[in-house]
Amino acid sequence: MSKSTVVVTRQLPQAAIEPILERCNARYWDSEEPIVRSTLLEWVEGADGLYCLLTETVDDELLDAAGPSLRVVATMSVGYDHVDVAALRKREILLGNTPGVLTETTAELALALLLATARRLPEGTHAVQSGTWPSWRPMWLTGRDIHGSTVGLVGLGRIGAAFARMLGGFGCRILYTGPREKPEAAREVGATFAPIDTLLQESDYVAVHCPLNDQTRSLFSGEAFRKMKPTAVFINTSRGGVVDQEALYDALVQGEIAAAGLDVTDPEPLPADHPLVSLDNCVILPHIGSATIATRTKMAVMTTENLLAGVEGRPLPNSVDLS
Ligand code: GLV
Repeated sequence: MSKSTVVVTRQLPQAAIEPILERCNARYWDSEEPIVRSTLLEWVEGADGLYCLLTETVDDELLDAAGPSLRVVATMSVGYDHVDVAALRKREILLGNTPGVLTETTAELALALLLATARRLPEGTHAVQSGTWPSWRPMWLTGRDIHGSTVGLVGLGRIGAAFARMLGGFGCRILYTGPREKPEAAREVGATFAPIDTLLQESDYVAVHCPLNDQTRSLFSGEAFRKMKPTAVFINTSRGGVVDQEALYDALVQGEIAAAGLDVTDPEPLPADHPLVSLDNCVILPHIGSATIATRTKMAVMTTENLLAGVEGRPLPNSVDLS
């Protein structure tokens, strides 16, 4: 049997790249930096499979460049807002992603970010490192409690539910919202459904766990922030596009909300001179939600399994329903 041709757009852990190099003719971008778009457009021509990351836009241009041979796109991410699903559907190309393996890891990061933002940890470490740590003061670097608070989850999917479960130990009241109620998941994690306006008005912490799509793009606008408590903390570990960042900046500066913790921004990387970076009450992480050695390795290997299944004509272990 002749080998399939595949494109791999980034340097991968050995466990993920070895099977591809053994079983396929691989056009392998063996670099930590993103593949140059023009190179990707050249390399993808005549390929049977594409292994990509969330940094590559998979659209009509790319799929046209690939031509009719392309059977599968395997993305090393659970989110697939960088992929034009309709463009895949009309060409009958399969899409594989990595749900499940990053759930707990990403929920842990959301919890870490919530704690860091509420308790002002980056301001504290900065004071130590810069020699501006004063003697103990009653009200210096006072933050906000998590225990006893109301946490509002925007999205109760796998990650939102895992986050809610972890919050169980803090004795929080947990609200959730989304396109529909999820009674079973809600019962399991002790969450109560609320319309988004109620959730915004009543939550001390609002944590975003929904995918980016047409319904959620810029969901967090000036209007949404104005509905929140002036003491509220906003946490986003989903996608930057869910937030109108100018509105967030205004809300943080004008005291419409107290603080924000972001693991995702638009664009990424966020330039160091972006206004949000200058704010003490905005904690920004560089999109590291799933970044543990074990989880990233699992994601990379699962993507390989999706790619190989797709080019070898087997069902993908994890495929996105494109219907
Ligand atoms: C990361 O953001 C992912 O979607 O896996």
